[in-house]
Formats: sequence, C-alpha cells, structure tokens
Amino acid sequence: MAIREILEVPDPRLKIVSSPVEADEFNDELKTLVEDMFETMYAAPGIGLAAIQVGVPKRLLVIDLQQPDEDAEPETDEDGVERYPTKNDPRVFVNPEILNPADELSTYQEGCLSIPEIFADIDRPATCTVRYQDLDGNTHEEQLEGLMATCIQHEMDHLEGIVFIDHLSRLKRNMALKKLKKMRAAA
Ligand code: NI
Repeated sequence: MAIREILEVPDPRLKIVSSPVEADEFNDELKTLVEDMFETMYAAPGIGLAAIQVGVPKRLLVIDLQQPDEDAEPETDEDGVERYPTKNDPRVFVNPEILNPADELSTYQEGCLSIPEIFADIDRPATCTVRYQDLDGNTHEEQLEGLMATCIQHEMDHLEGIVFIDHLSRLKRNMALKKLKKMRAAA
C-alpha cells in the first residue's frame, strides 16, 4: 500500500470526466488502487475520495464516514473530554449511479481534500439510491440518507469533473479560491 498525492484545485485533471471501470479491469491493479485510496484518505484525513483525486480518471470512489461507535466504551481524550471511538466502515463504489434523488434537500457544511481548509454549506437531495459494482464486479443497489447520501453525491461530482465550490455563487466561489491562494502563500 502507498499514500498517493492528492490533486488540488486548480489542477486541470480535477475537471476530467472519469471513464467507467471496464469488465476486464476488475483485477489486482484495481484492488491496489483502492487500498492506496483508503490509505491516502485516512492519512489526510478525510471521509471520501474519488480516483481522479489521486490522478486516476476512473469511475471509482471510496468512503468511510468514521462515525462515533456508540456501542463502544467512551475514551477520555487529552482535554478530559469523553468521546466514543470512531468505527471504521470502509465502502467501495465502482461505476456508481444515483437513482431517484429526493426532492427534499439537506444542507451540510462540506469540505474536500482537493480544496484544503475551505468549507461551505451545500444543499443536496436528502436521500437517494445508489447503484454500483463491488470489486468483484457484482451490482448492488442501496438506499442512502444523511451524511452518506451527501458524501456519495459529493464524490460522484468528482467523476463529472465538478468540485463542491462549483455549486456556490461566482462571488462565494471566488472568495473561497482567494482564501485558498492566501493560505498557500502563507504556508
Ligand atoms: Ni471532494
């Protein structure tokens, strides 16, 4: 396994529309890419990553929401605050498609490993069904809600060459890009 470089805006590769993973590409190379994507995502850290974010223009994404595990014993952190340990739930979606997105919207403050330190409220359909293939090429359908529904829609945008700040008004997007530039200059 290896940590790969995460592309950041304005890298033009982030605007590529990714191509389907073909039937003969469900192989060890794909499994290695997925392992590397998880390692890269956990190290960042983040909760979702599309293949194009590591420079591979394929319709593939990984998600692990790493939510608190309320069945576990709470742990006390260095500030004396009790927290549940996070639970790993690694998910792989190959050739995902969104079916019947809800009319009802929900709003989350989104961020993206390709746009570090920038966060903004984005509205998206609150629930949706995703049809996808697993690493063996089998097709599944799953109803999603909450953060998972938002996260998969964010990651699927990457497959179309779209990043979350593209959903903002031009004014807000320009402000975000300016802030990013300023932070990079200061780094
Ligand atoms: Ni992203």
